[in-house]
Amino acid sequence: MASHAANLMQKAYERMIQSKKTVFEDPNRLHYHLMPPVGLLNDPNGLIFFEGKYHVFFQWNPFKTEHGAKFWGHYVSEDFIHWELAPIALAPDAWFDKDGCYSGSAIVNDGKLYLFYTGNVKGVNGNRESYQCLAVSEDGITFEKKGPVIEVEEGYTAHFRDPKVFEQGDAWYMVIGAQTNDEKGCVVLYSSNNLLDWSFEGKIAGNGMNGLDDFGFMWECPDLFSLANKDVLVVSPQGLESEGILYNNIYQSGYFVGNMDFQTKRFNHGAFTEIDRGFDFYAPQTFEVNGRRILIGWMGNATEDNIPQPTEKYDWVHALTLPRELELKDNKLYQQPIRELENLRENEVHYNQVELNHNSAVELEDVRGSVFELEVSISELSDGLLTIEIGDAGRFVYDAKHALFSFERIGLHGKKEIRTCAIADLETIRLFKDTSSMECFLNHGEEVFSSRVFAPEEQQVRFHAEGTAIVHVKKWNLKQFC
Ligand code: FRU
Repeated sequence: MASHAANLMQKAYERMIQSKKTVFEDPNRLHYHLMPPVGLLNDPNGLIFFEGKYHVFFQWNPFKTEHGAKFWGHYVSEDFIHWELAPIALAPDAWFDKDGCYSGSAIVNDGKLYLFYTGNVKGVNGNRESYQCLAVSEDGITFEKKGPVIEVEEGYTAHFRDPKVFEQGDAWYMVIGAQTNDEKGCVVLYSSNNLLDWSFEGKIAGNGMNGLDDFGFMWECPDLFSLANKDVLVVSPQGLESEGILYNNIYQSGYFVGNMDFQTKRFNHGAFTEIDRGFDFYAPQTFEVNGRRILIGWMGNATEDNIPQPTEKYDWVHALTLPRELELKDNKLYQQPIRELENLRENEVHYNQVELNHNSAVELEDVRGSVFELEVSISELSDGLLTIEIGDAGRFVYDAKHALFSFERIGLHGKKEIRTCAIADLETIRLFKDTSSMECFLNHGEEVFSSRVFAPEEQQVRFHAEGTAIVHVKKWNLKQFC
């Protein structure tokens, strides 16, 4: 290993050792989510099942709780629940990635693990350069950088990144998030027969394709895959204006459903739909294992204001979402927490036929805690509001009459903030509460809200209906894996 690389990695390990005590003293440290060992984590990268193990890499700045020259951190698991931190996979030590080993993906070829990522280089005068790079590993733990395989195409700015590689028929393909010279976001496609030589196949979405012209100034982290005989393009556009209940975070992640014709290289698709309705969700990636399509997102987003998150004084910030299995029904993505998570459950509490009305809020014995899963099935609901309050951590409100579901929390600035989505006929609410996060799945994954809430203390759940409702409630404590 070049001495610069060895040095950088050494410094990152030293920082982990120095900060370990501080990080683990944080009551907001999550119990069953992936987090950085220290420093800042953002996008999940290189999701893959390789030689009997699940691998999750992540964008990582070990030195600060701010963005910077990213490393690829690495977690490995045999059961999709218990994760072990592996040695650093990539450090920004080469001329082509010296300012960050940015996001990318993994594939397996000839028994080896291939990582494709973007080398970010800050040139003179603040100019940016981007290279799509390859690194290869025989054991899935140590990677050898092979250098750039693609440079920025003419007509595009250096915002050209986040390669996602997949196999289709007898060829390899890669989608890249891009910005045209006139600052329109889009996705471009490449093909290859040997993973080293890549041919540019043109733009497949955004910037004038399928009638979408002005839809953000940059599209990040594209992912194209087939599901239920359709093709789905997941992407994270930057620069969408908020429209009522839509697009209220600084940046969005969503998907298009359509048909990708690999002969003509055209992707005909429908409208953009947000994947997650919560406050903290961005840059998701998917992978396939044993016929299941699994998605993991960054449970974070770019920050609009400079209020530090409470975890920053403990030297770490951000986390990944729970893995979710995808299904496509009527051109809509449904997302369910992976079934392996049921192994975390203990101490089941069960209440049947709980009657709610406007008189007073209902508290159920033992339906409280800091880290738990809650399942609420609704069997009757009049046209009023159904509210589920998770102590001080936030509350969920369903307005049956207007078919709107909301999540409210107190933001870091101390004021109430809200996210809302439209959903008719709400039947089930499944909530995963961790020390400092809540992920709520409605109607078996028809809509999902993922948010950070810094509430590590025990919270009493309270149910209330304006009008009448009958609900069934199940609650489990969840075991800690990290
Ligand atoms: C998305 C993103 C990617 C980039 C990475 C850098 O959050 O901006 O486009 O590769 O983060 O950390």
